Amino acid sequence: MSSSYYITTPIYYVNARPHLGHAYTTIVADSLRRFHELLGQRTWFVTGTDEHGDKIVQAAEAAGVTPQAFVDGVSGQFRALWPKLGIRHDHFVRTTDAAHKAVVQAFLGRVHAAGDIYFGEFGGHYCTGCERFYTEKELEDGLCPQHKTKPEFIRERNYFFRMSKYLPWLADHIRKHPDFIRPERYRNEVLAMIESGGLEDLCISRPKSRLEWGIELPFDRDYVCYVWFDALLNYISALGWPDGEGYDAFWPGEHLVAKDILKPHAVFWPTMLKAAGLPVYRHLNVHGYWLVRETKMSKSLGNVVDPLAVAERYGLDAFRYFFLRDMQFGADASFSEEALIARINADLANDLGNLFSRVLSMAAKYVDSRVPDVALDGANLSEDDKVLLELAESAVRNYVQLFDNVRFSQALDALWELVRALNKYVDVQAPWALFKAGNMDRLTVVLRLMLECMRKVAVWLWPVMPGTAAAMLEQLGQPLPASERFGSAPAPERAEALRWDELTPGAALAPSSNLFPRLEAPAEQKEQGEDRAAGKGKAGREKAGQGKSGRENNAGKACAASPETPGEASFADFQKIDLRVGTIVAAEKHPDADKLLCFQVDLGEEAPRQILSGIAEHFTPEELVGRQVCVVANLAPRKIRGRVSQGMILTAEHEGGLSLLAPGGLVPGGSRIS
Ligand code: MSP
Repeated sequence: MSSSYYITTPIYYVNARPHLGHAYTTIVADSLRRFHELLGQRTWFVTGTDEHGDKIVQAAEAAGVTPQAFVDGVSGQFRALWPKLGIRHDHFVRTTDAAHKAVVQAFLGRVHAAGDIYFGEFGGHYCTGCERFYTEKELEDGLCPQHKTKPEFIRERNYFFRMSKYLPWLADHIRKHPDFIRPERYRNEVLAMIESGGLEDLCISRPKSRLEWGIELPFDRDYVCYVWFDALLNYISALGWPDGEGYDAFWPGEHLVAKDILKPHAVFWPTMLKAAGLPVYRHLNVHGYWLVRETKMSKSLGNVVDPLAVAERYGLDAFRYFFLRDMQFGADASFSEEALIARINADLANDLGNLFSRVLSMAAKYVDSRVPDVALDGANLSEDDKVLLELAESAVRNYVQLFDNVRFSQALDALWELVRALNKYVDVQAPWALFKAGNMDRLTVVLRLMLECMRKVAVWLWPVMPGTAAAMLEQLGQPLPASERFGSAPAPERAEALRWDELTPGAALAPSSNLFPRLEAPAEQKEQGEDRAAGKGKAGREKAGQGKSGRENNAGKACAASPETPGEASFADFQKIDLRVGTIVAAEKHPDADKLLCFQVDLGEEAPRQILSGIAEHFTPEELVGRQVCVVANLAPRKIRGRVSQGMILTAEHEGGLSLLAPGGLVPGGSRIS
C-alpha cells in the first residue's frame, strides 16, 4: 500500500447548476478519501470547475453577462455546495486560474518540443454540446450520438497531438494492469475502442477567429487550446506540476468519473501523460448514471434532482449511505424517494439504529451506562462470542477489501453482516435474562463485546457517514478527536481490523440512541408498501420461528379460535399464544376509520410491526409513542380498512375506561410474557 492517496472528480462544466449526478461523484470521492485516511495514508482530494469552451460562451451570452462573470457565478455555486454535503476537498481547481493556465502552456510546450504536436488541415463534424469533432463513422444517422443534434461540418487548419503513436503502448498498459480502468466492462470497452482502429490523432486547438475563450497556445497566439486538453491537465496543475511539492507527494493518483467521459480519461489523458514523459494514473474508476424515471437527468426533461434538497429532507448521512449502497458501481441506478426511504428504513432505522438503541438502553439499565471493565481475553469468551468475533473480523476485512476496489455496495453489505449478526446476538444472549439471573460476569462480557463491535461499525462507517459515525462514537463514550481526522492516528488496516479492546473501561455511554427515526413512505406508496410489508413481516416471523418450536407455525389458527371458546383452555392451548412486550415507536390515526389507531411496534424483530387497535376513543396517538404494551404476537395478519395488522395490543376494560396492559418496568422490546 502506497503511503499517499490522491483522488479527483471531473471538473464540472459551469454551464449548469450542480445536480444529483455531480453530487454522487463528489460524495464518492470524499468517501474514498476518508477511507484511505482511515487506512493511515496521507490523502489529497481535488475537485473543481471546467470553465473554457464554446458551451460556456453560449451560456454566458444567453445570461447576458461576460464569460468571466458567468463562470465566477456558477463555479461559486459548486464550491459553496460541497461543504453542505459533508465534502472536505483540499483544493478547488478552476481552469481559469492563472496557475492552471501556466501549467497547460508548459505542458503544451513540452509535448510540442518533443515533436508530438503538428500543424495540419482537418475537416470534421463538430458538436458544440460535446465540444469535439466526430468522424462520419461515429455519427448515428448523421447526428451526434450523445445529443442527437446535427453537428456542423468545419474545415480548418489546426494543431494535432500524435495520439495514435501511443495507442499500442496504451493497449499494452491496459492489458498488463487489469485494474487500470475499472470495473472491467469499461476496460473492455476501451480496449475495443483502441482495437477498432477508429482512433486518430487528436485535434488540440481552436482558431481564435472562431473561439477566444480558452488558453492561448504557447507556440501560436492565433489559437487557443482544445477544452479537453486544457481540462484534463487540471489533475496535475492542482498539484503544482512540474515542481510543486504536491506533485511529488501525490502523483500518480486516481480518478473518478462517469461513463460519459470515459474516452478522454481512458485514451486522451494517459497518452498525453506518456508523451510528456510523466507516469500515468493508478486507476480510472468509472461509474454509471443515476437515472430519474429511467432517463438520464436533463434540464429539458425537467427531471433534475437538487442534491441539497434531498439531503436536507432525509438527512445528509442517510443520503450519502443510499448513494453508495444503492448503486452497483459501474452500472446505472434509479433514483427515487421511495427507494431512498426504503433503504433508510431497512438498513439505517431497523438494523443500525435499532442496534444502538437496544444495546445502549440495556447498558443504561444493567451497567449504569458505563463501558464494562472486563477483558475479552479468550478465557471468558463463549463459543458464541468467538463466532461473533470471527464474523466481525471477516466482515471488516471484506469491507476494507471491497471498498478499496470501489465496490461500495458490496462493501456496505459486508459490514451489515456484522450489524445483523449483532442484532441476532442480542436476541440469543438475552442480556435481560442474564440480568434477571444475576449473572453479571456474563452480562458484562456480552455487553462489552457488543459495544466493541459497534465501535468497529462506527469507525468503518465514518468514510460514508461522517456525522453519524461521530455521533455513534460519542454515544459509545469515544468521541472523535476535535480535528475529526483519523489520518493523524496511525491505523494500519490489519491492526485496526483485529483490535478489539479499544473502548475505555468506565467511559460514559449515552443512555439512549435514536440515530435514524423510521420514515413514512410517500402517500401514494403507502397502500402498496403496507401490503408488501405485511407479506415480508409474516415471512420474517415464520423464519424467526424456525429456530424455536413448531407451535408458532399454526398459531394463527389457534388464536383465531380462542375468542369463540371462552371455556377452559388447556395448558397446551395457552402455550400456543405468543405474548410479547412491544414498544410503540410510531402511532397515527387510521385515515379511514375513526376508532382505529395504527401503531408501529418494536418487538425486537428486523422491523417494527404494524398493529391496528380500536382504541382511538381512549387515547391520542401522541401519548402512546414510547409506551410499552403487551402484544399477541402470533395472531394471523388481518387487513382492516386497507391496512394490515400483524398482532393485537392487549387492553383491560374497566369502569374508568380502558387501560393498556404493560410490564411493571422498562424491558427490551420482544421480551416474552409467560
Ligand atoms: N467538464 C467535463 C469533465 C472534465 S474532467 C477533466 C464534464 N463536466 S460535466 O459537468 O458534464 O460532468 C460530468 C460528470 O458529472 C460525470 O462524469 C459524472 O461524474 C457526473 N454526472 C453528471 N450526471 C450524472 C448522472 N446522471 N449520474 C452520475 N453521474 C453524473 O464532463
